Amino acid sequence: MILGIETSCDETAAAVVTRDGAVLANVISSQAQVHAPYGGVVPEVASRRHLELVVPVVEQALAEAGVTLAALDAVAVTEGPGLIGALLVGLSAAKAIAFARGLPLVPVNHLHGHLAALYLQPEPVEPPFLALLASGGHTMILDVTDHRGYRSIGGTLDDAAGEAFDKGARLLGLGYPGGARLEQLAAGGDPAAHAFPTGMLGRPGYDLSFSGLKTALRYALAGHPDVPRADLAASYQAAIVRALVERTAAAVADTGASTLAVVGGVARNTALREAFAVRCRELGVRLALVAPELCSDNAAMIASAARYTDAIEFPGYLGRDAYATAS
Ligand code: KG4
Ligand code: ZN
Repeated sequence: MILGIETSCDETAAAVVTRDGAVLANVISSQAQVHAPYGGVVPEVASRRHLELVVPVVEQALAEAGVTLAALDAVAVTEGPGLIGALLVGLSAAKAIAFARGLPLVPVNHLHGHLAALYLQPEPVEPPFLALLASGGHTMILDVTDHRGYRSIGGTLDDAAGEAFDKGARLLGLGYPGGARLEQLAAGGDPAAHAFPTGMLGRPGYDLSFSGLKTALRYALAGHPDVPRADLAASYQAAIVRALVERTAAAVADTGASTLAVVGGVARNTALREAFAVRCRELGVRLALVAPELCSDNAAMIASAARYTDAIEFPGYLGRDAYATAS
């Protein structure tokens, strides 16, 4: 059994996962309300909140799994990329638990974690496949040939897709966290009401760009105050979805992949899930999606990735450091 800990951004999360990928507990404590007054995550506030929450969240995960620390054979933790202070809280907690029990520590790459949500029970996805990882910090098209990692073949040149949702939500006055709120507003709107640009689609390759879209929304809000906000939200969301689906579909067609997976917080979006379902049917490709709670940050995905990551044996991990950006 593996205890997973995730504190890379504003979710304090702990999970217990078995070696064959069964999730026994998956506890997520969101700090969204703590950061809402500031319109986004305040890194130092996040670190302090993780410090308060990490022990109770781990205790709750163990209780829900019905096990004690004695049942564990490894502790897995996100070591990057993410907010450095936030990561250090999870890493320090994981080191302390592993050290106290004489257990190995498994340092996990957060992006590998998002992919490893696909390897959990009850319907684990087997490589090879192509994946779109769309989160608040990253948007990448990944070629996955084995459980242990991935190769990036394209992605955003500027903002991540989740960032585009969050910034769009802020411009629309929806506050933070923005993605889900923008989706709610868009549900009552006409996605064809306003033509937003989908930057890179005319160009070869698999690059994406979302910064121009955000600027276009700013001008649309100023220049067309008559257009209902729900219509602007729906059209804005449609532009993000179109860019992600078309770019990824091109990569699927070029590589001849037979399975496409979509992971990361943005994969919770219903319009995105439906658009990918339609496109994959057209392409004759299998679409793999995980449950919404496994799309956004959680620790079950971190424990899952640990099953395919080299462990550091006791006590060699005490000097291990976190990293903010993926190299
Ligand atoms: O993977 P994640 O939980 O954290 C990162 O690793 O970044 O992704 C968070 C991102 C945020 O930008 C959030 O706005 C977005 O996922 N998100 C959504 C939805 N739910 C969360 N975006 C669009 N529609 C949603 N329903
Ligand atoms: Zn994430």
